[in-house]
Amino acid sequence: MIDLRSDTVTKPTESMRRAAYEAEVGDDVYGEDPTVNRLEEKAAELLGKEKALFVTSGTQGNQIAALTHCRPGDEVIMEASSHIYIYEVGGFSALANVQIRPVPGINGAMNTVDVKNTIRAENIHYPTTSLICIENTHNLAGGAVLPLSHMQEISQLAKENNLQVHLDGARLFNAQVASGISVKEYAKNVDSVQFCLSKGLGAPVGSIIAGTEEFINRARKWRKMLGGGLRQVGMIAAPGLVALEENINRLAEDHAHAKLLADGLANMNGLKVENKVETNIIIVNVKETKHTPETFVEALKSKGVLAGVFGLDTIRFVTHYDVSREDIDKALIAVQEIL
Ligand SMILES: Cc1ncc(COP(=O)(O)O)c(C=O)c1O
Repeated sequence: MIDLRSDTVTKPTESMRRAAYEAEVGDDVYGEDPTVNRLEEKAAELLGKEKALFVTSGTQGNQIAALTHCRPGDEVIMEASSHIYIYEVGGFSALANVQIRPVPGINGAMNTVDVKNTIRAENIHYPTTSLICIENTHNLAGGAVLPLSHMQEISQLAKENNLQVHLDGARLFNAQVASGISVKEYAKNVDSVQFCLSKGLGAPVGSIIAGTEEFINRARKWRKMLGGGLRQVGMIAAPGLVALEENINRLAEDHAHAKLLADGLANMNGLKVENKVETNIIIVNVKETKHTPETFVEALKSKGVLAGVFGLDTIRFVTHYDVSREDIDKALIAVQEIL
């Protein structure tokens, strides 16, 4: 099967499996796992933040950020198709007891004037706006890279209004590779950042959140409360270290494959590629074919290609480590045969 459903499906590489096997470990709740400590130091250094924390998933990282930044009853501004708003099971309200204020965006970026107008004034009736969340790359906007200038504007606005900014950077390294702007440069504009080791970077488990030492000290307690205080966790942190050492620059290959696939699809009658394809995600409208997204995806499956149903008229392909150039050619042939 050529699995183009998501970049979460990657299997750990040989060097990741070896690193897991050979990992030096200790009890991480006591802060004694040397492999986790190395991973957290390396991640903090890459992001230019004081401290980092290894967490079980991107979702857990984002939830911990809300718990650490906000107080119950606060309001959090974010783009209306953010992963946090759409796909995190309502966790911000259920766990952090905050209210999300969604602001529609274009290519994943909110209009900063809209954000400004959404920040609550001091009024007895209003919740307190305490946090703005942004997402880079933006998943539902098709892996769109959030412009650095936009992040700078959001950062400025937040400073002027005494708000914190959290970056859901599940695929922040894809943004770095696509734009040439370092994750450190992006992260300068936010108070906390989450990135996933287990997406395009290919590790089997885990995410990182980073911020000031004081923020991470408090985040560590929330992680414990959520059941994320793990023990000899160097076994799963070791592949994360390998991901950071070996797999960042190769994301360019995934982006090149995505472009090839997108160009091939765009040339086929009845298909429309809906996004600009800046990174590794392709959204394709199938409305003009005889298929619905569901039947299209079923037909692809019968030809050995997996894709995801995305919207009412769209399907999604995501390139990653386990998809080769040859697989892209085969996937294009499969699509052509279906049409
Ligand atoms: C933008 C974004 N944020 C957060 C997550 C959540 O990550 P996890 O699946 O590790 O919980 C995802 C997962 O796809 C994502 O795309």
